[in-house]
Amino acid sequence: MDGRLNRRSFLQLCSLGALSSAYPHAHAVKHANQTARVELFAKTGETKIVGRDFPATAVWGYNGQIPGPPIRISHGQSLDVTVNNLLEVPTSVHWHGIRLPNAMDGVAGLTQAAINPGQSFRYQFSPPDSGTYWYHSHVNAHEQIGRGMYGPLIIEEVTPPVVDRELVWMIDDWRLLDDASISDDFSSGHDLSHAGRIGNVPTVNGRFRDVVKVRSGERIRLRLINASNARNFALSFGELLPTVIAIDGQAVTPYKAKAPVIVGAAGRVDLILDMIGDPDSSLIVTDSFYRNEFDLCRFAYDKKPLRNSAINESMSLQPPLLPEPDLSNAQNLEIVIAGGAMGGLQRAIYNGEWLGLREIAQHGYVWAMNDIVGNKLDMSPLISAKRGQTIRLTMRNETAFPHPMHLHGHHMKLLSIDNNVQSDPRWLDSPLLMPKQSMQLAFVADNPGDWLFHCHVLEHHRAGLGALVRVA
Ligand code: C2O
Ligand code: CU
Ligand code: CU
Repeated sequence: MDGRLNRRSFLQLCSLGALSSAYPHAHAVKHANQTARVELFAKTGETKIVGRDFPATAVWGYNGQIPGPPIRISHGQSLDVTVNNLLEVPTSVHWHGIRLPNAMDGVAGLTQAAINPGQSFRYQFSPPDSGTYWYHSHVNAHEQIGRGMYGPLIIEEVTPPVVDRELVWMIDDWRLLDDASISDDFSSGHDLSHAGRIGNVPTVNGRFRDVVKVRSGERIRLRLINASNARNFALSFGELLPTVIAIDGQAVTPYKAKAPVIVGAAGRVDLILDMIGDPDSSLIVTDSFYRNEFDLCRFAYDKKPLRNSAINESMSLQPPLLPEPDLSNAQNLEIVIAGGAMGGLQRAIYNGEWLGLREIAQHGYVWAMNDIVGNKLDMSPLISAKRGQTIRLTMRNETAFPHPMHLHGHHMKLLSIDNNVQSDPRWLDSPLLMPKQSMQLAFVADNPGDWLFHCHVLEHHRAGLGALVRVA
């Protein structure tokens, strides 16, 4: 038996002890001037993930916190972030979803050298888009993110929708042992070749089965950020009918979510929630992405209502400020994702050479894009584009697992899924491609540099599911 704590034993244990009911307040790092200065310390810390009755969990985090300190600026402000590495291993920080200059993208080995222990690096950029983003380590990400190295990055709209309150939920799942310590079986062969490192303890802002206090009649903007290594979420909010207002940071035409809200690994969804429950009642937020449903957290209504009827204000955000693809003049590319367990991949190109899957797997690689194992950051690019060129991608997932495919430095317009043309196309930086699904996406390659394009199931990336996009 391994000592992995399954969900049932946690449920049993946790019903015995009270859980903390506080929710973390977003701490704004705001300045009157145009540049917000932030100092981050990558360091070890301790946090109570599973409640008082368990020991604290030793984590790695920004300023030792889980999640790292929220970085929140207004659209139009610039960021100047100094990252100090107080860990004993190299690290770097990536600003997920931000269209920034390549040299600030934080991919160690590609856009910068890793920040060695005791060293620091200064990231300076002006986020061009408002919305919900996040920052995370991009060195050994499967381990460093798995140990907690992430935080929210919020670029506020100049005219945000009217709400009573805003909540940021970084959702994650941890793989904990019985003593609440992090299981250190990072990149096990099974995780690499199957669904990735799926944990056993789902959390909101680092807390298992958190209780969030709300008031009847309150309108909440909920920013969901999925910081899991591999877990996708499908969240249900009971009687509430959430309105989706943004996905991956970019505005969508607001719509009521009649089905569970999907937040793929690395994805973000902004919701407006009108809290219509009775005072003193409670509501459980559940997940149903995988076969086993579970409770993620609970809303607890205060005894006193805030107001008796819901706010009636527009929820629309300003439309995205992204360059429109020119489909009449596009470079068309088909990308086939293959490999993994039950994937049937026979051979692939590894370091420029065709090898059988067994040989490749001996090096720890099991996935390929267009037959190429993405095992290096200096490999030749899968896509090369002249600056300003429109790229139209048809991605096909021939594997047995979902893949949230993340492109750095750009947003992609989702044109169709399985040949169903999207009537109201959305812009994504991490589209979740389900097994056997195909998607057509387009983007203007307008940001010069070498950019990563990889699966954000971090174990899949580690095991070869990554490529480069070169914009020159
Ligand atoms: Cu969110 Cu390459 O990363
Ligand atoms: Cu990214
Ligand atoms: Cu994947």
